[in-house]
Amino acid sequence: MTDEIPGGLKDSLLALERDASGLVDEAADKAELESARVALFGRRGSITALGKQLAGLSADQKRAAGKRINSLRSSLTEQLKNRSDSLDAQAQARELEGPPLDYSLPAYAPEPGHPHPLASSMEEVRSILESMGFATAEGPQVEDEYHNFEALNIPADHPARDMQDTFFTRDGHLLRTHTSPVQIRIMEKSSPPVAVIAPGAVYRQDDDITHSPMFHQVEGLLVDKGVHFGHLKGVLTEFLRALFDEDLGVRFRPSYFPFTEPSAEVDISCVICSGSGAVENSRCRVCSGTAWVEILGAGMVHPAVFEAVGYDPGVYSGFAFGVGIERVAMLRFGIADIRHFYSQDLRFLQQF
Ligand code: PHE
Repeated sequence: MTDEIPGGLKDSLLALERDASGLVDEAADKAELESARVALFGRRGSITALGKQLAGLSADQKRAAGKRINSLRSSLTEQLKNRSDSLDAQAQARELEGPPLDYSLPAYAPEPGHPHPLASSMEEVRSILESMGFATAEGPQVEDEYHNFEALNIPADHPARDMQDTFFTRDGHLLRTHTSPVQIRIMEKSSPPVAVIAPGAVYRQDDDITHSPMFHQVEGLLVDKGVHFGHLKGVLTEFLRALFDEDLGVRFRPSYFPFTEPSAEVDISCVICSGSGAVENSRCRVCSGTAWVEILGAGMVHPAVFEAVGYDPGVYSGFAFGVGIERVAMLRFGIADIRHFYSQDLRFLQQF
């Protein structure tokens, strides 16, 4: 029996003892070092291959060869660790020598937001009306049929319901189709004189470039003794001129609402074409060349409405109006498509 390691295995051992440490020491970075580790200790690595060659040897040969393989393995393992540490140290040194981080550089400033064009229009309408003495009230967006229709003199079979067909729940509630039900809620819990506005979202079945299934209105209601149509005209003319332009044309057209009598639709001279009907020699698209645009509905509170809330129509009179905020914003800013308001597109919003 000899403990001589057979020739083939011995040659491989000698070659590895000579070359393997070079492979480790020459690794220029962590990735190359990892390749070296795999080439030696990986499943198909050369040290692993040596181990497999022990199989056919005698016990003495195994012991002799095993010993040398083990010592090679442990010295290479230590070398791998050393090389890894020194690569880390080099990387850290490079970072310390390089240009320092400048913590005094100003941070990115947060981009300040600003009110949405609908919010700013709503605020403008509110502040003008508040400056004229109206107080702000709010009502529910999910209404009952009584407040949205019946108390406003719109019984179940009334054709005016058609125009305001909307979103109903099964238990007789609906998304309010206008802010007028807030008139009822206010009068139910307070006695005259009353001067309130009620801003908020309303819902209808409309959907095109100037109508949205959800939009916003501001309702106005003034009730006292001796209120007449002249007060209505004066207050609304003053309000519209403060909102758009002090020279604005304002006209009142006869109209119909079940909850006002007489009723009017109020037009203003078109702010897009300055009431000329034309923009750069072609027909103004906003007023269709008519020079006027409709801006709100209004009228003297119908006696049936007073009766519904327990006010004596023989003693009190009043006026009411409802203005659409999208409409106001579209005219103030010259916006052609109502859907821009709800698209959340910064390219649109940043223009205001
Ligand atoms: N509620 C009506 C609408 O939405 C507007 C209006 C309000 C008309 C108050 C008259 C009085 O069309």
